[in-house]
Amino acid sequence: MTDTKPAFDERLRQSASETEALLASVLSDAALPDEIARPAHLMAAMRHGSLNGGKRLRPFLLRESAVLLGGSSDAALRVGVALECLHCYSLIHDDLPAMDDDDLRRGQPTVHRAFDEATAILAGDSLLTYAFDIIAAPETTLADRLKTELVLALARAAGPGGMAGGQALDLAAEKSAPDEAGIVTLQAMKTGALLRFACEAGAIVAGSPPADRERLRLFGQKIGLAYQLADDLLDLTSDASTLGKAAGKDAARGKGTLVGLHGRDWAEKRLEVLTNEAIGLLAPYREKALILQEAARFIASRDN
Ligand code: IPE
Ligand code: IPE
Ligand code: MG
Ligand code: MG
Ligand code: MG
Repeated sequence: MTDTKPAFDERLRQSASETEALLASVLSDAALPDEIARPAHLMAAMRHGSLNGGKRLRPFLLRESAVLLGGSSDAALRVGVALECLHCYSLIHDDLPAMDDDDLRRGQPTVHRAFDEATAILAGDSLLTYAFDIIAAPETTLADRLKTELVLALARAAGPGGMAGGQALDLAAEKSAPDEAGIVTLQAMKTGALLRFACEAGAIVAGSPPADRERLRLFGQKIGLAYQLADDLLDLTSDASTLGKAAGKDAARGKGTLVGLHGRDWAEKRLEVLTNEAIGLLAPYREKALILQEAARFIASRDN
């Protein structure tokens, strides 16, 4: 068996640096045509919440999915940057006092700590809106039909029936503990939906037939569940200096998690099952899928 880990590490590093470079350029203080002016402190807060060293895994998954299916790597990078803006908004709002009330994110003060609460709310609102701008903008060189599909899929993944709805369920679950099915649903929404979008969007960028789009969507769904399971395990087993965010918060806040319900051993086994199922789904693409399969392993074994 070939060891794809070094190739994976290098591609993730390269993709993260290209993602960050493009993010930095779209988040400049200079107003775009039809914008009136960009308030400097708002832009600074948006940059603080997004140019702060995330893993950039969602843009990576999007681009690798597109490339696997013969899509344009440049267009996929732009859509990946849009998705990262939306993900960063979700983190800024997730950390607010009214939500998880966290002071540390990616090793730095959270946006409401570094600025103030109102600015953090507006930085999140702006990153969310800007995600759709980046997809629709002429610099994203995709057919209008594909852009419409991306906008619709991202709106469905991020909105009331996806990430934002999952966050609502997550907060409600602090007050009345959900059963296993309830936890799986809330995690599929709050975290799974954007990861599923990342993989499915690669197929949309590539203009792939429905069978490929469905396969990538299922792969994204599995790794989405695995992603939150790994996050919940890390919350239990790791520490703030490794994670770049507080540890031990889930038990303290009474979050509904599978780790809390079934314990660490069960969760580790379930993580392995989900990872293997995800890897198996890409078997038809043979060696072309090795990098994405390595990404599934990375999700289960990462330390932050
Ligand atoms: C953290 O996401 C929030 C969850 C959905 C669990 P990531 O673990 O992808 O965070 P960054 O973007 O790398 O900081
Ligand atoms: C995050 O879940 C889900 C989001 C949509 C941001 P968590 O609340 O567990 O994420 P962390 O642990 O704060 O990164
Ligand atoms: Mg949360
Ligand atoms: Mg949180
Ligand atoms: Mg967490």
